[in-house]
Amino acid sequence: MNEHVTLSPAEEPVTIPNTRKVFIKTYGCQMNVYDSTRMGDALASEGYVATEEMGEADLILLNTCHIREKAAEKVYSALGRLRDMKKARAAEGRELMIGVAGCVAQAEGEEIIRRAPSVDVVIGPQTYHRLPDALRKARGGKPVVDTEYAVEDKFDHLPATDRKLIRARGVTAFLTVQEGCDKFCTFCVVPYTRGSEVSRPISQIVDEAIRLVESGVREITLLGQNVNAWSAEGPTGNDWGLADLLYRLAEIPGLARLRYTTSHPRDMDDRLIEAHRDLRILMPYLHLPVQSGSDRILKAMNRRHTGAEYLALIDRIRNARPDIALSGDFIVGFPGETDQDFEDTLKIVEDVNYASAFSFKYSTRPGTPGADLTDQVVEEVKAERLERLQALLLKQQADFATSCVGKTIDLLLEKPGRMPGQVIGRSPWLQSVNVDAKTSQIGEIIRVRIIGTGPNSLFAEPAESLMGA
Ligand code: 5AD
Ligand code: SF4
Repeated sequence: MNEHVTLSPAEEPVTIPNTRKVFIKTYGCQMNVYDSTRMGDALASEGYVATEEMGEADLILLNTCHIREKAAEKVYSALGRLRDMKKARAAEGRELMIGVAGCVAQAEGEEIIRRAPSVDVVIGPQTYHRLPDALRKARGGKPVVDTEYAVEDKFDHLPATDRKLIRARGVTAFLTVQEGCDKFCTFCVVPYTRGSEVSRPISQIVDEAIRLVESGVREITLLGQNVNAWSAEGPTGNDWGLADLLYRLAEIPGLARLRYTTSHPRDMDDRLIEAHRDLRILMPYLHLPVQSGSDRILKAMNRRHTGAEYLALIDRIRNARPDIALSGDFIVGFPGETDQDFEDTLKIVEDVNYASAFSFKYSTRPGTPGADLTDQVVEEVKAERLERLQALLLKQQADFATSCVGKTIDLLLEKPGRMPGQVIGRSPWLQSVNVDAKTSQIGEIIRVRIIGTGPNSLFAEPAESLMGA
């Protein structure tokens, strides 16, 4: 007899297995990727194991993104399919719980339950440490919506990641150090969905980094919506910026590489630029979005810098670290963007010469100042501009890859390749590189010579094999 289980007579008993499986689908940026791993941690301590097979999951969690339009619609159509799956499961007497997390959860809240009543839990990016609790409550039958900004620090309440889990996740890892944004670019929902800037304290970050490294991680990417705005009180009561944090993390024995993303040009201070010159552990790669090359549009976007200021900054960064690869984000068709404004964007791309980039058509986000602007650019013009911009950016990306051929570089061996005997590594410039190596070498950094380029990756041979040849 089990005295603790009560079922109302109207309800069908459902079988709840001892070990539950969770399938997490992640949309959007790297911060969501990190959040998904941390939600996985919170659930692991509740007995959930992750599965890659949606069909065998007892809990399906959608970690959603709200940055561009249609994101919410995509989530609702995914939820429609999950509702059918849940019904089919119930007919078999098996449980399926459905959770919505991330920025759509934050923005839509209760609305999600109204439109998709099969959802059990809606949890915001600031509250996912309360996910196990929410699931327990929802199991009582009533859906739970928890998107209040947490007063407590969620990271204090999450269990430290299990070392076995870190190992399984590989030799590169993300570590969120900062969340939210105070910049209020007029096109962007982030300040509304993720809230204002919050920096994690130094000790929390260092502890997490040490744990990652002790579990086999060699490369850490520090994450934040505005990561270079990270700040905290240093050990002697002084102010620390991101550069100080990088120097501190560089002291961790066994850590081989550091990166950070995403940065705002206004927060690239002198010390951070010097760190690119002096700190070998800091990889020569920087994602520094400019969005547009037109001063008029930059002003309308509230970016608070001009094209010339951005170019001067790029010069200083390149002087400090000549081999740095630059990456950026661009928006075409912001309201009021003329042909000339767009030409200015192409011009700044030519001037900078990017190693990689992301470009998007402007998408109206309700609640942002951009949504109130009247002179919206028509869809065909946006599409045509995006095509031209992407052709230029793709050419620069291909030229950059080609320029790597013949170079001898350090390669961090990351995961098995598609062919037996091949391993995929990561170059200092964040490219995937295929090389002949043993999977037992994963985690090592080896010298290789780049010998060719593929559509999305490079080919290399171990540099040692060249010796004496
Ligand atoms: N429309 C199109 N692109 C956007 N981004 C942010 N908001 C929008 C929007 N409303 C792009 C920016 C940003 C990247 C993460 O997404 O380029 O840097
Ligand atoms: Fe959005 Fe601008 Fe903040 Fe980036 S800096 S998250 S684009 S508001």
